Formats: sequence, structure tokens, C-alpha cells
Amino acid sequence: MTDEETATAPTLAVGVVGAGTMGAGIAQVCLQAGHEVLLFDVDHAAIERGRGRIADGLQRLVDKGKLPADGRDRMLTALRDAHTLEGLAEESDVVIEAALEDLDLKETIFRALGSGTPTPHILATNTSALSVTDIGAASGHAPRVVGLHFFNPAPVMPLVEVVVGDRTSAETVTRATQFARELGKQPVVCRDSPGFIVNRVNRPFTLEALRMLEAGEAGVEQVDRAVRSAGYPMGPFELMDLVGIDVNLAVATALWKGFDEALRFTPSDIQYSLVDAGHLGRKTGEGFYRYEGGRPIAVAWDSNDGSLRDEDMVARLELPIINEAYLAVGEGVAEPGDVDRAMQLGANHPYGPFERAGALGLRAVIDGLRALEERYGERFRLARTLWDIASI
Ligand code: 3HC
Repeated sequence: MTDEETATAPTLAVGVVGAGTMGAGIAQVCLQAGHEVLLFDVDHAAIERGRGRIADGLQRLVDKGKLPADGRDRMLTALRDAHTLEGLAEESDVVIEAALEDLDLKETIFRALGSGTPTPHILATNTSALSVTDIGAASGHAPRVVGLHFFNPAPVMPLVEVVVGDRTSAETVTRATQFARELGKQPVVCRDSPGFIVNRVNRPFTLEALRMLEAGEAGVEQVDRAVRSAGYPMGPFELMDLVGIDVNLAVATALWKGFDEALRFTPSDIQYSLVDAGHLGRKTGEGFYRYEGGRPIAVAWDSNDGSLRDEDMVARLELPIINEAYLAVGEGVAEPGDVDRAMQLGANHPYGPFERAGALGLRAVIDGLRALEERYGERFRLARTLWDIASI
């Protein structure tokens, strides 16, 4: 998309439901694209905090000389509060829901959104891992319901997964894809299945790091350092702190339940402990690290370095990511090229899993996974396609 195309995109009224980190980030992206935004949250104080986040995000751009001050002011004027979900739906061309990851809550929201007249053209959910089909059914307008899944930080990460529910119409998919492009994002279309592409394929990045930590095989900083040195933008513990340990746990749980409690998606006790203690990462000032002024100042989770070599730690994450990518493609979630693109655009990985498998050599990937399975068990069991290749 060129700047010219962005500039000529029609101004829409976009309703954003939920003024937390993702809701505020999405609202900022919509304002920057020239849209009017109606922001709703059940908690009025959350709307105020969300407004503050949006103002800070826009100010960042002003400070960098990327946005004139009057542009910021115009955008903040185009941000309005909505008082009811029904009212928000009636005034909006597009609605994006970014509430908590709770299916009952999302169904209640979509029931209310669907009761407005006229109904918005696109009723989108930013769910991380719940079923778009189930959420759509609650609205009474399933053909208009689609997943528009943004990545944290929403103003920075270029990917939007366009998730097609069982009853989403082709017209809605086209509109939603175009809308995402007009926001300056790079859409990747995928099938509705737990975790879609990135939250599923990238699950080992955090879960396997947690397993190393739980077993005393490696420490927090040790893993983060090794992973960064391998070219990743962040280590897994830094990433969990960025996304929120509660959000990370909710995603892990949704996948675990969505895949019949498959062992490989079992959440870690460490996630539960941190959530119980209210140590949710950057947003509470403490998670795996302790933060001051938004910057990590010390490791907060008590851990010692273990004896694993850097390359072993990186392989523990990369090999099951490749395996999960083969599993997802085998189930028709997306094409290999789209999985590679999504992992690079949504998680900023230096390469997609298929590209990485090509570079490592499939034989090495298969041998590596088999060795891990022998040592750690069935969570490393080969995907069918890799198994078939191994049997040749
Ligand atoms: N909000 C807005 N802008 C931000 C930001 C934030 N929270 N954090 C960083 N930025 C901006 C910076 O201002 C800078 O902008 P500039 O290039 O115009 O100057 C740019 O992003 C790069 O930031 P930094 O130089 O400070 O830092 P890094 O180079 O380390 O990049 C990062 C930060 C982009 C967050 C990078 O570390 C990264 O890509 N990390 C991986 C993030 C990731 O995987 N996200 C997906 C999580 S999963 C998810 O969201 C799904 C959900 O369902 C759970």
C-alpha cells in the first residue's frame, strides 16, 4: 500500500470495545489511518487510561518528528467515548472488540453489538485464541464476524491475522483485508482454529523456555541472552513481560483446551504463580524482570544459569516451532508461505519456520526433534509430514 492509497481511503467510524493495551493500540492505529474512533469500556476509568495511552503513543510520534502536533490534536479530537455497545454499533462502520479473553464475555458483547440497527459491515474480534465461529454465532450476524488479530505493540507490529470463521462471508473477508491494508498493516488470511497462526506456531517460544526454567536447566537472563544472540528481537521472558503474563497464560490455556489438553500446550506452574501474585510483566512493574520507567532494571524471578549451551536453548525453541508449523499447515490453517510471513511480521522472527527448516536441513530438524522426544517426551513428537519424510 502506498501513502497515496492510504490517504484516499475513506474515513470510517471505527468502534473499539475494550480500552486496555490492545484496544488502545488498535484505536491509535485507526486514528493514525484517519478514521474516527468510538471507544467503549465497561470501566470508565479504563477509558481514561486508554485515552492516556493513545495520547502518549501519538506524542511519541510527535517527539520523533513523525507526526505534526496539529495532526495529533486532530486525532485526539476524532477519539470519542461510547456509552453503550448498542450505540457504538449503530454509529460504527467497523467494530473491533479487544476485551478480555473470556468467551462468555465476548459472546455477551457480540450479542449487544448484533442488536444495533444498522449493523456494522465488519464485526471483528481481536481474540488471541478463542473461536471466531463461536463469537460470531452469538452476534446473530455470523457472516459479518471475522477475526482481526493485531500484535503487541499494535502501533508497531505490521501483521494482522484475518481469521475466517466457519460462517464468515467472502465479502466480509475482502472488506476486512482491505480495511487492514488501509490501516497500513499487512494482512494474512487464515482459518479459524485455536491460536490461528502465530499464537499457535510460536507457543513453544515461551512454553519451552518456561520448561527449561522450571527444570532448572537454564535461567531467565541466560535464555533471553541466547535467543537474542540468535537474532530474535526479544527473549521469551522479555516477550512474556511485554505481552502480559496473564494474556500469555490465557493464550496457552485456550490452546491447551482447544487441542484437547495436548501435553505440548500444557501451561506452566510458573505462569500461574506469577498471575496469582499479580506480577503480570511490564504493566504491573514486575514479571520475570522488575521495571522502572518502563525499563527492566533487574531479574525478578529467582533463577540460576544452567549448563545448557546457547545453541541447545535455541534449538529447544526453534525445532518445536518448525514442528508446530508443519502441524498447522497439515490441518489447513494456512499455507507455508503465509505461516513464514506471519511469524516474521507478527513476532519479528528473523526467519519463518519453513525457511528455517530449509536452512537447517529437514534431516537435521527430524533428528533434532527425535532426540528431544527421546529425552523430554511426546511434546516433541514429529508432525505427520515430517514423519512421512523421515520414513522415506
Ligand atoms: N508502543 C509503541 N511503539 C513502540 C513500543 C510500544 N510499546 N515499543 C517500541 N516502540 C517503537 C519504538 O518507538 C521504535 O520506533 P521507531 O523505529 O519509530 O523509533 C520501534 O518501536 C522500535 O523500538 P525500540 O528501538 O525501542 O526497541 P526494539 O528495536 O527492541 O523493538 C519491539 C521493540 C518492536 C517490541 C521488538 O522488540 C519486537 O518486535 N519484539 C517482539 C514483539 C512480539 O513478538 N510481539 C507479538 C506478541 S504476541 C501478540 O501480541 C499476540 C497476542 O494475541 C498475545
